[in-house]
Amino acid sequence: MKSATANIAFPAMAVTLMFLWGGCLTANVSYDHRSLIIDGRRELIISAAIHYPRSVPAMWPSLVRTAKEGGCNAIESYVFWNGHEPSPGEYYFGGRYDLVKFIKIVQQAGMYMILRIGPVVAAEWNFGGVPVWLHYVPGIVFRTDNGPWKHYMQNFTTYIVNLMKKEKLFAPLGGPIILSQVENEYGYYEGAYGEGGKRYAQWAANMAISQNIGVPWMMCQQWDAPPAIISTCNSFYCDQFTPNTPDKPKIWTENWPGWFKTFGARDPHRPAEDVAFSVARFFQKGGSVHNYYMYHGGTNFGRTAGGPFITTSYDYEAPIDEYGLPRFPKWGHLKELHRAIKLSEHMLLTGEHSNVSLGPSLEADVYTDSSGACAAFLSNTGNKTDMTVVFRNASYHLPAWSVSVLPDCKNVVFNTAKVTSQTSKVEMLPEDLKQNGKKDLEWQVFTEKPGLWGEADFVKNELVDHINATKDTTDYLWYTTSITVSETGRSPVLFIESKGHTLHAFMNKEFIGTGTGNGTHPTFKFKKSITLKRGRNDIDLLSMTVGLQNAGSFYEWVGAGLTSVRIEGLNNSTLNLSESSWSYKLGVQGEHLGLSKPGNSGAVNWTLTTKPPKKQPLTWYKVLIDQPSGNEPVGLDMLGMGKGMAWLNGEEIGRYWPRKARKNYPNDECVKECDYRGKFMPDKCLTGCGEPSQRWYHVPRSWFKPSGNELVIFEERGGDPTKIKLSRRKVTAETS
Ligand SMILES: *[C@@H]1O[C@H](CO)[C@@H](O)[C@H](O)[C@H]1NC(C)=O
Ligand SMILES: *[C@@H]1O[C@H](CO)[C@@H](O)[C@H](O)[C@H]1NC(C)=O
Ligand SMILES: *[C@@H]1O[C@H](CO)[C@@H](O)[C@H](O)[C@H]1NC(C)=O
Ligand SMILES: *[C@@H]1O[C@H](CO)[C@@H](O)[C@H](O)[C@H]1NC(C)=O
Ligand SMILES: *[C@@H]1O[C@H](CO)[C@@H](O)[C@H](O)[C@H]1NC(C)=O
Ligand SMILES: *[C@@H]1O[C@H](CO)[C@@H](O)[C@H](O)[C@H]1NC(C)=O
Ligand SMILES: *[C@@H]1O[C@H](CO)[C@@H](O)[C@H](O)[C@H]1NC(C)=O
Ligand SMILES: *[C@@H]1O[C@H](CO)[C@@H](O)[C@H](O)[C@H]1NC(C)=O
Ligand SMILES: *[C@@H]1O[C@H](CO)[C@@H](O)[C@H](O)[C@H]1NC(C)=O
Ligand SMILES: *[C@@H]1O[C@H](CO)[C@@H](O)[C@H](O)[C@H]1NC(C)=O
Ligand SMILES: *[C@@H]1O[C@H](CO)[C@@H](O)[C@H](O)[C@H]1NC(C)=O
Repeated sequence: MKSATANIAFPAMAVTLMFLWGGCLTANVSYDHRSLIIDGRRELIISAAIHYPRSVPAMWPSLVRTAKEGGCNAIESYVFWNGHEPSPGEYYFGGRYDLVKFIKIVQQAGMYMILRIGPVVAAEWNFGGVPVWLHYVPGIVFRTDNGPWKHYMQNFTTYIVNLMKKEKLFAPLGGPIILSQVENEYGYYEGAYGEGGKRYAQWAANMAISQNIGVPWMMCQQWDAPPAIISTCNSFYCDQFTPNTPDKPKIWTENWPGWFKTFGARDPHRPAEDVAFSVARFFQKGGSVHNYYMYHGGTNFGRTAGGPFITTSYDYEAPIDEYGLPRFPKWGHLKELHRAIKLSEHMLLTGEHSNVSLGPSLEADVYTDSSGACAAFLSNTGNKTDMTVVFRNASYHLPAWSVSVLPDCKNVVFNTAKVTSQTSKVEMLPEDLKQNGKKDLEWQVFTEKPGLWGEADFVKNELVDHINATKDTTDYLWYTTSITVSETGRSPVLFIESKGHTLHAFMNKEFIGTGTGNGTHPTFKFKKSITLKRGRNDIDLLSMTVGLQNAGSFYEWVGAGLTSVRIEGLNNSTLNLSESSWSYKLGVQGEHLGLSKPGNSGAVNWTLTTKPPKKQPLTWYKVLIDQPSGNEPVGLDMLGMGKGMAWLNGEEIGRYWPRKARKNYPNDECVKECDYRGKFMPDKCLTGCGEPSQRWYHVPRSWFKPSGNELVIFEERGGDPTKIKLSRRKVTAETS
């Protein structure tokens, strides 16, 4: 095994002529049952999902280039409504939300663009991408035949279409967009909306068609899209996909080459062999448009992570990792596959298709034409036994769960189970925080008091819904009350029940513990022995959301926050506090004062110290740091911290929470060796038992200046800021 540091990202600036496409010419996009037809030419589309707000503009050109280098000829993205319309009628297209700039970068790279306008995206994105304010429009119900919903949905969709037209981004106007999507994964949920759902799907289709964009519309994860719309597949495998539209091309909008993560859960792993197998099977069976969801997952900066509990990292184990580097061997293996598919492209698109059985679970799909040209895909869909088959008088070895590609029906140029791509070693090299070249840092520290930090926003004799109170302007909501007792009780216990997601409890201004749900069970119960004093006792409960629900029927009605609070062991009876007088405060004080804004002291008394306090809840830490050395991407190592939020120079790094995935819990097992053979499910090859689900938090290089970078941390429950490091992500190529 030879090991060498390589500049893996862009081995060469080779221009793949096959995909060269000027992008300035107008192109007519049509289709038939076989493929998209772009200006009269049939083309196979191998597309890479890269969501523009999940990276920064400085990364976009290299991400797009790395996708092209990997053999993709299109980039796909959703459009993120809640980022673009933060309040009704007010639009934002700056920074990470500069959609037009992103599409123009795709165009300049000579690639096509697939635009999934949505406007619901799910996507593990906060509230499924719909602005939270929309839920508070009177009478609204999302995604059904509902007047207010249809009004706002049409309004936003039309706004985006008009913007794309104005910027000439649709193919008939000279732009790269060849395909667009209205609504998203609605087939899954439509049934729950009954007749209203059916009417809505039809209405959305008609609304889209009436926009006259000149390129086809699709609806994904939909089997019965209205006639003028293409039904498409989202899954781990789509070779069996049979929509109601035999007159339309087979489109796979989401092939999931990995999976997302939640705080407290283990790491999913989908092997490169299985991803390649699924892609090859799709093209074997006549598929013609394929998109990796994700090809680059990126980062859920700030509070954009959906939920609940989706991590800030959205790496997705995609072919390009969160930090923008190709992931080996996945990226390399798929690149080889794309090459093999491209070699077969002409026959796949024009040849006559037939399939021949070569034995049980063994199959050849052959594409021939009258000139005698021929391409074939041989597959072994058995999950145990490698086989040797005879095809056209020659014998071929077919490992279990694999596809061989024979662009000339003779020579195998690729087998999905044989990984020849290089592998690599990935390290996060820790580097101490430095201030003007020195490791001694001067910290500024400000600690908030638990509970009301100003006048209560409202007082109620009930426990209100968290999201209805905050409207998601913040993760935080204080529920505060007090009790007066004349005796301290024998052994009082505080019991709390919550719809989710997380809670830090304070008794008499002291932190007493954290209660939390998880990605599969957001609701939780919290129980803690407490000590009361005679007279008044303060109960301050900081309830938190960790990303709002992002998918499901009627998902916008899923609430959060406390539902029951009681103390047992007082006078032998239960003191039910659920209908006590509760005073509420939205957000924490530092948010209100804008302490994350660069240069803003917030008019609070910061303590200057070289020894910042540890294990101190509700504490803001601010420090001026130098840019880390080298030029590798950077992750903030938060292993020593509890839970909170981080910013650099006012840019939102996001939520951090090095919460560990449980180990040794029944069924919470991790695998040592992952057998790629057989159907993949997200829980098939989990790793990371007992490890933090997310230890490093991506800080884009472009956010740094050489020195004087303001790092701000809000720590909710207590941590050790002196352990924070900036780690450089170093990838070392390993070739055999
Ligand atoms: C687009 O191409 C299709 C098929 O090649 C053709 O039928 C149609 O007339 C063309 N439309 C335009 C506007 O050129
Ligand atoms: C969307 O609604 C706003 C405010 O009501 C209106 O000004 C705008 O014209 C609408 N846009 C579209 C495309 O309907
Ligand atoms: C989430 O919590 C539920 C209920 O406590 C538990 O059954 C489940 O195993 C937890 N899941 C994870 C991933 O920890
Ligand atoms: C060819 O494919 C079709 C559709 O999947 C299947 O029903 C049929 O059995 C296959 N034929 C052979 C010979 O394998
Ligand atoms: C296979 O061999 C037979 C007998 O030798 C021959 O007739 C046939 O043409 C061959 N088929 C192919 C595809 O080469
Ligand atoms: C406990 O009982 C005593 C005597 O009955 C009463 O004065 C006191 O208020 C009770 N305390 C609570 C917390 O209910
Ligand atoms: C939130 O408030 C709305 C009224 O604005 C109410 O219909 C809904 O049930 C509340 N949601 C929860 C989860 O309490
Ligand atoms: C509390 O309950 C215990 C056992 O039920 C009983 O012996 C005791 O007298 C009770 N104390 C009060 C203050 O009611
Ligand atoms: C506490 O009071 C609330 C509101 O009256 C009620 O719904 C709940 O069941 C009570 N809890 C207990 C444990 O008695
Ligand atoms: C800051 O500290 C000074 C001196 O201790 C005090 O007078 C002032 O009120 C404090 N300001 C705030 C906002 O707490
Ligand atoms: C392997 O194939 C067998 C037989 O078709 C099937 O029962 C089993 O579920 C498959 N295992 C996996 C992991 O796909």
